[in-house]
Amino acid sequence: MNYKKEWDELGKLDPLWAVLSHADKRFGGWDNQAFFQTGEEEIKTVIQKIQKLGYPKDKKNVLDFGCGVGRLTRALSKYFEKSFGVDVSGAMIQKAKKLNKQETTISFQVNDRDDLSLFEDNFFDMIYCNIVLQHIPSKTQIKKYISEFIRTLAPGGIAVFQLPSKVPLLHRLQPQRRLYRLLSLFGFSHAFLYNTLKLYPIQMNWLSEKEVRNCVMVSGKMLLVEKDSSAGEKVESRLYFVTK
Ligand SMILES: C[S@@+](CC[C@H](N)C(=O)[O-])C[C@H]1O[C@@H](n2cnc3c(N)ncnc32)[C@H](O)[C@@H]1O
Repeated sequence: MNYKKEWDELGKLDPLWAVLSHADKRFGGWDNQAFFQTGEEEIKTVIQKIQKLGYPKDKKNVLDFGCGVGRLTRALSKYFEKSFGVDVSGAMIQKAKKLNKQETTISFQVNDRDDLSLFEDNFFDMIYCNIVLQHIPSKTQIKKYISEFIRTLAPGGIAVFQLPSKVPLLHRLQPQRRLYRLLSLFGFSHAFLYNTLKLYPIQMNWLSEKEVRNCVMVSGKMLLVEKDSSAGEKVESRLYFVTK
């Protein structure tokens, strides 16, 4: 996973902004409390939605896939007995542990595998994944994680994940990211590229709603698809609610 090292660099340079990239919060601009408050609000809304759908049937285990520094894991832990946050980046997980020391029911782990073999079948009552799958460069890999969500979901459990359904052509070119990668090949440090040139390495991927539906159909059941705005104004995005 080549992109793992970019998340590691960002996890060291500006972790909170890398997680929630509000323009005015770049270069360490997030206040911790305000940052975690966004997680509380997001999760409150999601929990209300899934309760309306009649899920989850149990509240033992929840997974926050691509947890970053635990913004959403902390909020999810208020609703479940045990919470698991996994992330591809060791730097993000280190920061998550540091910022959430007081949270005794959360376990944060690095998962840089292309699956969720860390976890057994039918384990999670809820899986939540926001603004993560969109950054995975391979569409095949995104589909594999979706199948893994369904495999590890308990009967009566619910997976809620976000993914762009279409990225406009101009947005796909991502000149900032290309320049960042090119200059890092020439030996420029990540800190210089990020802080001085203000470049950013992360890419945006998507799957059409039809592709996601087809992938889910193999082993799960689509309960609801909602329009979503977490990928920004220019990117059409969806929030999927899935059970098995
Ligand atoms: C924009 S951040 C969002 C973090 C968190 N979901 C939130 O909203 O607070 C994206 C996170 O996904 C993680 N990530 C990227 N690819 C991943 C993968 N294949 N497996 C697990 N985490 C991944 C990154 O390291 C980063 O922490």
